Amino acid sequence: MAGIHAAGYVKNGMKVGLGTGSTVKYTILELGRRIRNEGLIISCVPTSISTEKLSIEQGIKLYELSILEGLDLVIDGADEFDENLTLIKGGGGALVREKIIAQASEKMIVVADESKRVEKLGKFALPVEVIKFSWKETQRKISEITNIEISRINRRMNNETNEPMITDNGNFILDLSLEEINNPSQLENELIQLAGVLDCGLFCDIASTVVLANPEGIEIIEKRA
Ligand code: A5P
Repeated sequence: MAGIHAAGYVKNGMKVGLGTGSTVKYTILELGRRIRNEGLIISCVPTSISTEKLSIEQGIKLYELSILEGLDLVIDGADEFDENLTLIKGGGGALVREKIIAQASEKMIVVADESKRVEKLGKFALPVEVIKFSWKETQRKISEITNIEISRINRRMNNETNEPMITDNGNFILDLSLEEINNPSQLENELIQLAGVLDCGLFCDIASTVVLANPEGIEIIEKRA
């Protein structure tokens, strides 16, 4: 419901970022339907290889981000969001491209259900994309910064192959079991200062709207001024 509703924000001629995950999948399917049935014309950038494949199947025109020079809108899922619309993302492993595309967009709309709304971020393990070369050292440094044990900083595994998961950018993901994050922007800044960290799944002050589906229907949550 949320995914389909959010597709309504997309208007003819827009440049749109397409997020990754099981909720935004329905936005992409709805955009494909509107392209076929209503002649909607849009230019899109996908946030992952899986979204790229789905979008091509749907007949959505895709471009490289560098060609479009800025986007009107990105629609994407989230793993958690709080009352400030700060997000944890990266459960699907696409956090780096998702954040690049969100920062390139005038507006970010998040599609989610009630289970993603939290009072305090951090129950969902925070994904951090790290360079393979130095992942152990980066894990040690993150342990120092966050004061959590190494055993709570887990390199993400691919369930099918039992090998470490490799992102679309060729890196590893460390999932940090923090339980609660008291100061998301401070933590984000500390993490991204480490040389081996490409980015983390905290999205601070980026999302402007959440389209939330719950059993009663759709709720629109706007970021407070
Ligand atoms: C992908 O890397 C993530 O950021 C997803 O956007 C997030 O995990 C939400 O996905 P679902 O809509 O599948 O829960």
